[in-house]
Amino acid sequence: METTRAFLPLLLLFLSVCVHSCHGNSRLTPRVYLSYKELLETRTIRPFSFSFNTSDYRILHMDQDQGRLYLGSCEYVVSLDMQNINKEPLIIHWPATTQRKSECKMAGKGGHGECANFVRLIEPWNRTHLYTCGTGAYKPICTFINRGWRAEEYLFRLVPGYVDSGKGKSPYDPRQENAAALINGNLYAGVHVDFMGTDPAIFRTLGDRPAVRTEQYDSRWLNEPVFVKIQKIPDSTEKNDDKLYFFFREKSLDAAGGSTPSVLARVGRVCLNDDGGQRSLVNKWTTFLKARLVCSVIGSDGVETYFDELRDVFIQRTNDERNPTVYALFSTAGSVFKGSAVCVYSMSDIRNVFNGPFSHKHGHNYQWTPYTGKIPYPRPGTCPGGTFTPGLHSTKSFSEEAVNFVRAHPLMYHPIYPTHKRPLVVRSGVDYRFTTIAVDMVDAVDGRYEVLFLGTDKGTVQKVIVLPKDTSTTEELILEEVEVFRTPAPVKTLKISNKRQQLYVSSERGLTQVSLHRCDAYGKACSDCCLARDPYCAWDGESCSAFTPATKRRSRRQDIKHGDPLRQCRGFNSKVEKRLRETVQFGVEGSSTFLECQPRSPQATVKWMYQKDGRRKALSRDKEVLKTAHGILLKSLSQSDAGLYHCQATENNFKHTVARVALRILDREIVEALTAPDGPSEPERHHQHDQEPHPPPLPSPHQTPPPISQLHPQPEVTLINQYCQSYWNQPHKPKRTNRRHTERQEAEELQVQ
Ligand SMILES: *[C@@H]1O[C@H](CO)[C@@H](O)[C@H](O)[C@H]1NC(C)=O
Ligand SMILES: *[C@@H]1O[C@H](CO)[C@@H](O)[C@H](O)[C@H]1NC(C)=O
Repeated sequence: METTRAFLPLLLLFLSVCVHSCHGNSRLTPRVYLSYKELLETRTIRPFSFSFNTSDYRILHMDQDQGRLYLGSCEYVVSLDMQNINKEPLIIHWPATTQRKSECKMAGKGGHGECANFVRLIEPWNRTHLYTCGTGAYKPICTFINRGWRAEEYLFRLVPGYVDSGKGKSPYDPRQENAAALINGNLYAGVHVDFMGTDPAIFRTLGDRPAVRTEQYDSRWLNEPVFVKIQKIPDSTEKNDDKLYFFFREKSLDAAGGSTPSVLARVGRVCLNDDGGQRSLVNKWTTFLKARLVCSVIGSDGVETYFDELRDVFIQRTNDERNPTVYALFSTAGSVFKGSAVCVYSMSDIRNVFNGPFSHKHGHNYQWTPYTGKIPYPRPGTCPGGTFTPGLHSTKSFSEEAVNFVRAHPLMYHPIYPTHKRPLVVRSGVDYRFTTIAVDMVDAVDGRYEVLFLGTDKGTVQKVIVLPKDTSTTEELILEEVEVFRTPAPVKTLKISNKRQQLYVSSERGLTQVSLHRCDAYGKACSDCCLARDPYCAWDGESCSAFTPATKRRSRRQDIKHGDPLRQCRGFNSKVEKRLRETVQFGVEGSSTFLECQPRSPQATVKWMYQKDGRRKALSRDKEVLKTAHGILLKSLSQSDAGLYHCQATENNFKHTVARVALRILDREIVEALTAPDGPSEPERHHQHDQEPHPPPLPSPHQTPPPISQLHPQPEVTLINQYCQSYWNQPHKPKRTNRRHTERQEAEELQVQ
């Protein structure tokens, strides 16, 4: 009952969102969908193919300077070439000791193979060394890896004999999520710090500052959190004001009340120079504050639906390092109804909430209210030695009053709303959820675009852009969706390298490198390229190819905003139409024939026109025509069906002819007489196909051709000659058509033999 009630608003939302913006849902269909096999054929992907006994390809760390991608998995740390992840990978085997593994099993663990060393953190330590930690079979360990000064050294090895405790750095249980960042030699980690996995904390270890953590077992600070991301974001040019932001989700304190959701998304922060309190909160953060992140949509009925399960956060740098853009990915809880949303937050909105009122439990019914009493100095959350506290040198000199206030009031009263108070992307009523997000800013001819790459729980990556439609609404375009794994599995980690124009996507079982674009796949014509509306691609006069503003040439055509080939491809559209070959197809009277036409885009609508004696009109003989996704089947042909058939696709108001077929009809009796010298058995086969939408019955290529040469010349013979010729010359089915269909055809041909 609980779940049903929770999903009802979402269902209503789906219905109302759709009524308002889905336009028949076609916009939520990717314009191009590539299966894993089709993606391989584009040669824009590299699955990591080096096989060793590992799993859990979770930790990816990019080193843009050395051009290496570090991968941490179960018992292995691997250094990969970012350009080609299969080129000479450097592999370190880093297992837990056999003794430790047996201790782990004796402690009652290992039912799911957890008694191994799962790598949970890889961070750069200095110019030559990395710091890495793993679960160490339920006893976290850390060590240094020497990777040399330059990639050319091909150096990658553990520092011999060095092992550090991983407590407060890596979780014990590999199933518990963690987040970490190494800043100025200090490691900040959101992690469960005990064997039982019941003591979560934001922990600082290593380096010259004292170890500091969040208050232990205080649900006001952290209540069963799941850590997602940790990032340093400066507040001002004053270093002492530098703060650490951490993104997580946690159980709501008021979940029992019923009206609030059970899980809430949070952003929290501490000062990097927080050394804990002097008398209370010793070795605990004295600047810890947190706030709720809201991502919701308001349905047409005014009911607000919240996405609270924070899944991933991508922080996009801007020219101002104090003000990056925060993209947060949310999903709905539960398994019945799948919904996801992306919300964008500005740092100024986040800071405003932290500068606003503190939350306070108050009154006889114990409600959260804004705290209205006196606020101590320095204001809780202020860093010592910063812009507003130049006289205070350490958190240890904070007043007792200020420290105690923080302990009791870590939560801000106001939640943080996303930019424009609504999500950038919403998905509901689909059979997948988003799991990961990466964002690229792309300069196109008509402006700068944010391109979202969204990993799903079904092993695909969607490439999405959102365009402003009018002053208050936006239009979302799914440019493509690609299957990135041979065996579908939820995308676990997604990293983007703008410099190398690559995505690195990992799952439990594998890692794949995918190019940010494959412009060829959109088609050769200018209109194909233009309709694709992909900011990475432009038509260069010859083909659809990658667009880089640096190598701008005058002939490059691109129109992301409108996708209007009439304007962008003027002069080229008619050429394409002219170049479109008219194919001649023969049908036999009384039998059926299939006219193939498959526009590239599922967002195109198809219309067939029939032209006879120079006049063109829409084909509207519904009874004798069966429309399929691949073309039309004309049932039971008669001589009057002969003529020219045009298949016209319309997408984004752009009409163009995709196929042009001249249909000639052969007289049935003559065909029978000619093709069946040994009796009438052969033509019988033709009848079986009447209900099936596939090509007209044709003789098998393995049969001997009909003995036309022996016949007296007459008009029909010339036609039949062409019929055979066109058959022999016909390439056997283009690649992109229904595979099953071709296989069946081949099977039939084999049977015929
Ligand atoms: C692979 O690793 C698993 C778990 O670590 C282990 O049980 C299995 O024996 C290993 N297989 C081989 C072939 O080494
Ligand atoms: C980097 O750190 C390691 C481990 O502390 C140390 O051995 C090495 O000398 C350092 N390298 C540089 C270049 O500072």
